[in-house]
Amino acid sequence: MAINKQEHAQWSSSFGFVLAAVGSAVGLGNIWKFPYMVGESGGSAFVIAYLFCLALIGFPILVAEWLIGRRGQKNPINTYSDVAASEGKSRSWSIVGATGILGGFLILSFYSVIGGWALNYITKVGSGSFAGQDSDSVAATFDAMLASAGTLTIWHTVFMVITAVIVGVGVTKGIENAAKILMPLLGVILFVIVGYNVMNGGFGEAVNYLFAPDLSKLNGDVMLAALGHAFFTLSIGMGIMVAYGSYLGRDVNLLSTARTVVILDTVIALAAGLAIFPIIFSNGLDPASGPGLIFVSLPIAFGSMGAGAIIGTLFFLLITFAAVTSSISLLEPTVELLEERTPMSRTVSTIVASIAVWLLGIAALLSFNLWSDFTIMGNGIFDALDKVTSKFMLPLTGLAAIIFVGWQMDQRSIQQELGLSNFTWQLWQIIAKFVAPIAVLIVFVTSLMN
Ligand code: TRP
Repeated sequence: MAINKQEHAQWSSSFGFVLAAVGSAVGLGNIWKFPYMVGESGGSAFVIAYLFCLALIGFPILVAEWLIGRRGQKNPINTYSDVAASEGKSRSWSIVGATGILGGFLILSFYSVIGGWALNYITKVGSGSFAGQDSDSVAATFDAMLASAGTLTIWHTVFMVITAVIVGVGVTKGIENAAKILMPLLGVILFVIVGYNVMNGGFGEAVNYLFAPDLSKLNGDVMLAALGHAFFTLSIGMGIMVAYGSYLGRDVNLLSTARTVVILDTVIALAAGLAIFPIIFSNGLDPASGPGLIFVSLPIAFGSMGAGAIIGTLFFLLITFAAVTSSISLLEPTVELLEERTPMSRTVSTIVASIAVWLLGIAALLSFNLWSDFTIMGNGIFDALDKVTSKFMLPLTGLAAIIFVGWQMDQRSIQQELGLSNFTWQLWQIIAKFVAPIAVLIVFVTSLMN
């Protein structure tokens, strides 16, 4: 199969690959974005739609992207082009690789702003400034940060510089190794906070809110939000998993690896929900308060629990780390493209790409203060970037990936590659050819009619 197997090194083990994939998947999407989206969409309806999208759409598309990447062995644009050509199909499939790279670029611009919030909160919690504070003063601290374009710019810059240095120097592997220790630690801290919540009220209410089936709130918008978030949280629909797949050894089992990634990612997100919502309810906060949700809720708990300053500092450190292992995967494809397609070196490519992302990020953060009146079709710049990518670009690029695998590639070789016997192969085909693509389309159409 491998057309250009010598192009680059492969993962030494499937474990190294899982680390990199989990590092990319688990990030701000799980801890910052998932809870506030649940809150904005009214709770369990979103959670149920999200789990459904992960299983029936996200999982097969993750497998599809790795499969394409492993065949192509190159960057997403050349991979789509080569694999399509070798299947006797049009090379213009490469456009799917291109939209993916653009998507990553756009996502990183606002992702870095939130990474900056997390960095800022390391120092705030660490200096003990939340000790004994009530929900009003915690919210006031957050609002003051948002109102200050200068503060947001400084921390966004720091986050972008960290990301750029790691990508530019090419030490992403080292970072992923650190993930071996730090990711489990993040899981532990989340469960410590969940444990605190069990003792301090609001827990039953939160469990109810997250899991008691209440489908009355399910509508096209909620479904589209859940679909977009399923893509966002798994890092699919952007070509990064296609790129990672190109490093994947032949012996790695795609299905079981995808299952591991999806389960870990989901457990972290649900744990974040259980860490945050009890605090929301026991303090009478509004679950629908938007992107600031974790920043106005968790510090209340850190301010009152024993060793709260230490636990809180560690918590924000670890989510910053999780954000960095994701942000490097958002920057890498653009850098790789510039490096391959222009005379620029890796260092210069990294600097150019990072400055462009950084500038767009400035526009995004200004939408919280100086430019708050400026809107694009009713959304501020930050929201517009988030919505365009999550609700349109990721699902459409992912849809293309699954259609490519389900309908354009030779099916017999895929069955072999996935190692499926007849029954499970039938099941895979039904999902890849029909269920996943049709589900994406239905969600689109219903949300358009809403
Ligand atoms: N999945 C990451 C998170 O949940 C964000 C992310 C990294 C991403 N790479 C991506 C999202 C590629 C979409 C596409 O925080």
